[in-house]
Amino acid sequence: SQVPVLCIDGPTASGKGTVAAAVARALGYHFLDSGAMYRITAYAALRAGHAIGPESETAIAAMAATLPVRFDDGRIWLDTEDVTDAIRTEEAGMNASKVSALPSVRAALVDLQLSFRRLPGLVADGRDMGTVIFPAAPLKVYLTASAERRAERRHKQLISKGISTTIATLRADLEARDARDASRPVAPLRAAADALTLDNSDLTVQACVDRVLAWWDQRQ
Ligand code: C5P
Repeated sequence: SQVPVLCIDGPTASGKGTVAAAVARALGYHFLDSGAMYRITAYAALRAGHAIGPESETAIAAMAATLPVRFDDGRIWLDTEDVTDAIRTEEAGMNASKVSALPSVRAALVDLQLSFRRLPGLVADGRDMGTVIFPAAPLKVYLTASAERRAERRHKQLISKGISTTIATLRADLEARDARDASRPVAPLRAAADALTLDNSDLTVQACVDRVLAWWDQRQ
């Protein structure tokens, strides 16, 4: 296809979402938050009374295939419900990780993800954008940071929202989520063979954005 795609994959709380959204804005491209789709699927499944595990795989995959989701100007809607904040909790992230390990759920969400590939271009954020969904993308970035730094940043975010937690708890949670994401048989978290790795442990958001944009310029 003629639509340029820039993939940004990486572990939990590596700053992918922030960097990917800023890069999309700078380029005037569409933005795909694939993690949100797994979060919404888990949210919808729980609301429908399904346990999140292999025993409900068929039912959850059927829901995912026809997910009434709408991304609208920074807000995310599930049917008529604004789920923007509800899907951002640590618990929602853990549920998303569980639901995303079910192969037929992943398969059910492929078309929805591909539908974001529209002119003038797409920045796609996730775990398997470069390895599975857009394997021919001209630029794949694997954005990472030390677990300590990622936990510190998440802690700061949550504290600013008035949610009390500890860095140690958050670090244990994100390491558990990464371990599950990296060890699943289907579309595990890993850098594509042709990905450029960017460790942002000691970089500002703006420095990451600038680096990615410079790489993108070189690919054009
Ligand atoms: O990126 P985010 O934290 O919103 O993703 C939530 C969860 O969804 C991840 O921990 C991962 O298990 C899953 N995910 C995935 N594939 C993607 C994006 C997210 O499996 N492309």
